[in-house]
Amino acid sequence: MNDKQHIAQHAAQQVKNGMIVGLGTGSTANFFIEELARRQNQEGLQFKAVASSVVSSIKAQQLGLPLIAINHIDGLDLYVDGADEVTPDLTLLKGRGYDLVREKLLAKAADSFLVLIDNSKRVTRIGENFPIPIEVMPFAWQLVQRSLAAIGGAATLRQTANKDGLWVSSHGSLVLDVTFTSSIDHQALNEHLNAIPGIVEHGIFSGLTSAVFCAHEGQVEEQWA
Ligand code: A5P
Repeated sequence: MNDKQHIAQHAAQQVKNGMIVGLGTGSTANFFIEELARRQNQEGLQFKAVASSVVSSIKAQQLGLPLIAINHIDGLDLYVDGADEVTPDLTLLKGRGYDLVREKLLAKAADSFLVLIDNSKRVTRIGENFPIPIEVMPFAWQLVQRSLAAIGGAATLRQTANKDGLWVSSHGSLVLDVTFTSSIDHQALNEHLNAIPGIVEHGIFSGLTSAVFCAHEGQVEEQWA
Protein backbone atom coordinates (compact mmCIF):
# COMPACT_ATOMS: atom_id res chain seq x y z
CA MET A 1 0.00 0.00 0.00
CA ASN A 2 1.41 3.42 -0.92
CA ASP A 3 1.23 6.58 1.25
CA LYS A 4 -1.72 8.08 -0.64
CA GLN A 5 -3.73 4.89 -0.24
CA HIS A 6 -2.81 4.65 3.44
CA ILE A 7 -3.87 8.21 4.22
CA ALA A 8 -7.09 7.88 2.23
CA GLN A 9 -8.04 4.80 4.23
CA HIS A 10 -7.24 6.64 7.45
CA ALA A 11 -9.48 9.58 6.41
CA ALA A 12 -12.33 7.28 5.39
CA GLN A 13 -12.57 6.19 9.03
CA GLN A 14 -13.97 9.67 9.76
CA VAL A 15 -17.09 8.86 7.74
CA LYS A 16 -20.04 7.79 9.91
CA ASN A 17 -23.49 6.49 9.05
CA GLY A 18 -25.86 9.15 7.73
CA MET A 19 -23.21 11.66 6.72
CA ILE A 20 -23.13 13.72 3.54
CA VAL A 21 -19.53 13.44 2.34
CA GLY A 22 -17.76 15.60 -0.25
CA LEU A 23 -15.47 13.73 -2.65
CA GLY A 24 -12.29 15.54 -3.70
CA THR A 25 -10.42 15.34 -6.97
CA GLY A 26 -7.05 13.80 -7.77
CA SER A 27 -5.11 10.63 -7.11
CA THR A 28 -5.44 10.79 -3.30
CA ALA A 29 -9.15 11.54 -3.48
CA ASN A 30 -9.55 8.58 -5.82
CA PHE A 31 -8.19 6.25 -3.13
CA PHE A 32 -10.64 7.82 -0.66
CA ILE A 33 -13.54 7.14 -3.04
CA GLU A 34 -12.40 3.53 -3.43
CA GLU A 35 -12.21 3.07 0.35
CA LEU A 36 -15.71 4.51 0.79
CA ALA A 37 -16.98 2.01 -1.78
CA ARG A 38 -15.25 -0.80 0.12
CA ARG A 39 -16.76 0.30 3.44
CA GLN A 40 -20.19 0.59 1.83
CA ASN A 41 -19.98 -2.92 0.39
CA GLN A 42 -18.21 -4.75 3.21
CA GLU A 43 -19.35 -2.84 6.32
CA GLY A 44 -22.76 -1.57 5.20
CA LEU A 45 -21.70 2.04 5.79
CA GLN A 46 -24.54 4.38 4.79
CA PHE A 47 -23.85 7.88 3.55
CA LYS A 48 -24.50 10.19 0.63
CA ALA A 49 -21.72 11.63 -1.52
CA VAL A 50 -21.36 14.89 -3.39
CA ALA A 51 -18.60 15.15 -5.99
CA SER A 52 -16.24 18.10 -6.44
CA SER A 53 -15.63 17.37 -10.11
CA VAL A 54 -16.86 15.59 -13.18
CA VAL A 55 -14.12 12.94 -12.89
CA SER A 56 -14.87 12.22 -9.22
CA SER A 57 -18.54 12.01 -10.01
CA ILE A 58 -17.90 9.42 -12.72
CA LYS A 59 -15.60 7.37 -10.49
CA ALA A 60 -18.11 7.43 -7.63
CA GLN A 61 -20.93 6.46 -9.95
CA GLN A 62 -18.92 3.55 -11.37
CA LEU A 63 -18.27 2.27 -7.85
CA GLY A 64 -21.93 2.54 -6.88
CA LEU A 65 -21.73 5.38 -4.35
CA PRO A 66 -25.04 7.16 -3.67
CA LEU A 67 -24.48 10.58 -5.26
CA ILE A 68 -26.42 13.77 -4.75
CA ALA A 69 -25.93 16.91 -6.83
CA ILE A 70 -24.15 19.92 -5.38
CA ASN A 71 -27.15 22.11 -6.19
CA HIS A 72 -29.34 19.90 -3.99
CA ILE A 73 -27.39 20.31 -0.76
CA ASP A 74 -27.39 23.15 1.75
CA GLY A 75 -24.36 21.83 3.61
CA LEU A 76 -22.29 18.71 4.19
CA ASP A 77 -20.68 16.97 7.13
CA LEU A 78 -17.26 16.26 5.71
CA TYR A 79 -15.19 17.12 2.66
CA VAL A 80 -12.00 15.17 1.93
CA ASP A 81 -9.54 16.26 -0.76
CA GLY A 82 -5.86 16.55 -1.64
CA ALA A 83 -3.94 19.76 -2.24
CA ASP A 84 -1.03 20.99 -4.33
CA GLU A 85 0.62 23.06 -1.57
CA VAL A 86 0.06 23.46 2.19
CA THR A 87 1.64 26.22 4.32
CA PRO A 88 2.31 25.99 8.08
CA ASP A 89 -0.89 28.01 8.76
CA LEU A 90 -2.85 25.40 6.73
CA THR A 91 -3.53 27.66 3.77
CA LEU A 92 -3.79 25.56 0.61
CA LEU A 93 -3.09 25.88 -3.06
CA LYS A 94 -5.53 23.83 -5.12
CA GLY A 95 -6.99 23.77 -8.58
CA ARG A 96 -4.77 21.89 -10.98
CA GLY A 97 -7.97 20.09 -12.04
CA TYR A 98 -11.02 21.38 -13.88
CA ASP A 99 -13.32 22.12 -10.94
CA LEU A 100 -11.77 24.68 -8.63
CA VAL A 101 -15.09 26.43 -7.98
CA ARG A 102 -16.85 23.30 -6.81
CA GLU A 103 -13.87 22.34 -4.66
CA LYS A 104 -13.92 25.65 -2.82
CA LEU A 105 -17.71 25.61 -2.45
CA LEU A 106 -17.54 22.21 -0.75
CA ALA A 107 -14.59 23.21 1.42
CA LYS A 108 -16.51 26.24 2.64
CA ALA A 109 -19.83 24.44 3.14
CA ALA A 110 -18.43 21.42 5.02
CA ASP A 111 -18.54 21.16 8.81
CA SER A 112 -15.12 19.57 8.52
CA PHE A 113 -12.59 19.79 5.65
CA LEU A 114 -9.81 17.20 5.75
CA VAL A 115 -6.79 17.63 3.49
CA LEU A 116 -4.69 14.60 2.59
CA ILE A 117 -1.04 15.15 1.67
CA ASP A 118 2.48 13.83 1.90
CA ASN A 119 5.49 15.92 2.89
CA SER A 120 6.17 16.92 -0.73
CA LYS A 121 3.13 19.23 -0.53
CA ARG A 122 4.46 21.28 2.38
CA VAL A 123 5.70 24.79 1.49
CA THR A 124 6.54 27.97 3.36
CA ARG A 125 4.60 30.19 0.98
CA ILE A 126 1.81 29.66 -1.54
CA GLY A 127 3.13 29.61 -5.09
CA GLU A 128 6.47 28.05 -4.15
CA ASN A 129 6.10 25.01 -6.42
CA PHE A 130 3.20 25.88 -8.71
CA PRO A 131 1.65 28.95 -10.28
CA ILE A 132 -1.61 30.08 -8.68
CA PRO A 133 -4.60 29.11 -10.86
CA ILE A 134 -7.20 31.81 -11.34
CA GLU A 135 -10.48 31.07 -13.09
CA VAL A 136 -11.77 34.07 -15.04
CA MET A 137 -14.83 34.93 -17.05
CA PRO A 138 -13.66 34.39 -20.66
CA PHE A 139 -14.30 38.01 -21.68
CA ALA A 140 -12.47 39.33 -18.60
CA TRP A 141 -9.07 37.65 -18.92
CA GLN A 142 -7.09 40.63 -20.26
CA LEU A 143 -8.46 43.05 -17.67
CA VAL A 144 -7.79 40.54 -14.90
CA GLN A 145 -4.28 39.98 -16.27
CA ARG A 146 -3.69 43.72 -16.01
CA SER A 147 -5.03 43.87 -12.44
CA LEU A 148 -2.68 41.03 -11.53
CA ALA A 149 0.30 42.80 -13.13
CA ALA A 150 -0.45 45.83 -10.93
CA ILE A 151 0.22 43.68 -7.84
CA GLY A 152 3.33 42.03 -9.31
CA GLY A 153 1.78 38.94 -10.89
CA ALA A 154 2.77 37.53 -14.28
CA ALA A 155 -0.28 35.72 -15.64
CA THR A 156 -0.52 33.48 -18.68
CA LEU A 157 -3.58 31.78 -20.10
CA ARG A 158 -3.43 28.06 -19.49
CA GLN A 159 -3.34 26.03 -22.70
CA THR A 160 -4.39 22.48 -23.44
CA ALA A 161 -1.68 19.83 -23.07
CA ASN A 162 -0.84 19.78 -26.78
CA LYS A 163 -0.98 23.60 -26.90
CA ASP A 164 -3.50 23.83 -29.70
CA GLY A 165 -6.27 25.39 -27.64
CA LEU A 166 -7.14 27.16 -24.42
CA TRP A 167 -7.88 25.14 -21.32
CA VAL A 168 -11.50 25.58 -20.22
CA SER A 169 -12.87 24.67 -16.79
CA SER A 170 -15.85 22.32 -16.48
CA HIS A 171 -18.27 25.25 -16.46
CA GLY A 172 -16.58 27.36 -19.14
CA SER A 173 -14.04 29.62 -17.42
CA LEU A 174 -10.56 30.33 -18.76
CA VAL A 175 -7.63 29.91 -16.36
CA LEU A 176 -4.76 32.30 -15.77
CA ASP A 177 -1.70 30.73 -14.13
CA VAL A 178 0.00 33.43 -12.08
CA THR A 179 3.50 33.68 -10.66
CA PHE A 180 4.99 36.39 -8.47
CA THR A 181 8.67 37.23 -8.70
CA SER A 182 8.81 38.84 -5.26
CA SER A 183 7.51 37.06 -2.20
CA ILE A 184 3.93 38.09 -1.44
CA ASP A 185 2.03 37.30 1.74
CA HIS A 186 -0.63 34.71 0.85
CA GLN A 187 -3.27 36.15 3.16
CA ALA A 188 -2.91 39.57 1.56
CA LEU A 189 -2.88 37.97 -1.89
CA ASN A 190 -6.06 36.03 -1.09
CA GLU A 191 -7.80 39.30 -0.24
CA HIS A 192 -6.44 41.03 -3.38
CA LEU A 193 -7.70 38.21 -5.59
CA ASN A 194 -11.11 38.14 -3.89
CA ALA A 195 -11.50 41.82 -4.80
CA ILE A 196 -10.62 41.71 -8.53
CA PRO A 197 -13.70 41.83 -10.78
CA GLY A 198 -13.87 39.11 -13.44
CA ILE A 199 -12.24 36.45 -11.27
CA VAL A 200 -14.66 33.56 -10.77
CA GLU A 201 -12.48 31.82 -8.18
CA HIS A 202 -8.82 31.22 -7.41
CA GLY A 203 -6.68 28.45 -5.98
CA ILE A 204 -5.79 29.90 -2.55
CA PHE A 205 -7.90 28.19 0.11
CA SER A 206 -7.53 30.35 3.20
CA GLY A 207 -9.16 29.65 6.56
CA LEU A 208 -11.05 26.62 5.27
CA THR A 209 -8.92 23.66 6.43
CA SER A 210 -10.07 21.75 9.50
CA ALA A 211 -7.15 19.33 9.50
CA VAL A 212 -4.25 18.15 7.40
CA PHE A 213 -3.49 14.43 7.41
CA CYS A 214 0.06 13.85 6.24
CA ALA A 215 1.48 10.47 5.30
CA HIS A 216 5.06 10.02 6.41
CA GLU A 217 7.07 6.79 6.44
CA GLY A 218 3.96 4.67 6.74
CA GLN A 219 2.52 6.78 9.59
CA VAL A 220 -0.27 9.38 9.49
CA GLU A 221 0.36 12.68 11.21
CA GLU A 222 -2.79 14.73 11.96
CA GLN A 223 -2.57 18.50 12.27
CA TRP A 224 -5.86 20.13 13.32
CA ALA A 225 -6.55 23.85 12.85
C1 A5P B 1 -7.54 19.29 -7.84
O1 A5P B 1 -7.97 20.46 -8.43
C2 A5P B 1 -6.34 19.54 -6.99
O2 A5P B 1 -6.51 20.59 -6.11
C3 A5P B 1 -5.95 18.26 -6.27
O3 A5P B 1 -6.66 18.16 -5.07
C4 A5P B 1 -4.51 18.24 -6.02
O4 A5P B 1 -3.86 18.40 -7.27
C5 A5P B 1 -4.02 16.96 -5.33
O5 A5P B 1 -3.88 15.92 -6.22
P1 A5P B 1 -3.18 14.55 -5.83
O6 A5P B 1 -4.00 13.93 -4.76
O7 A5P B 1 -3.24 13.76 -7.12
O8 A5P B 1 -1.78 14.83 -5.39
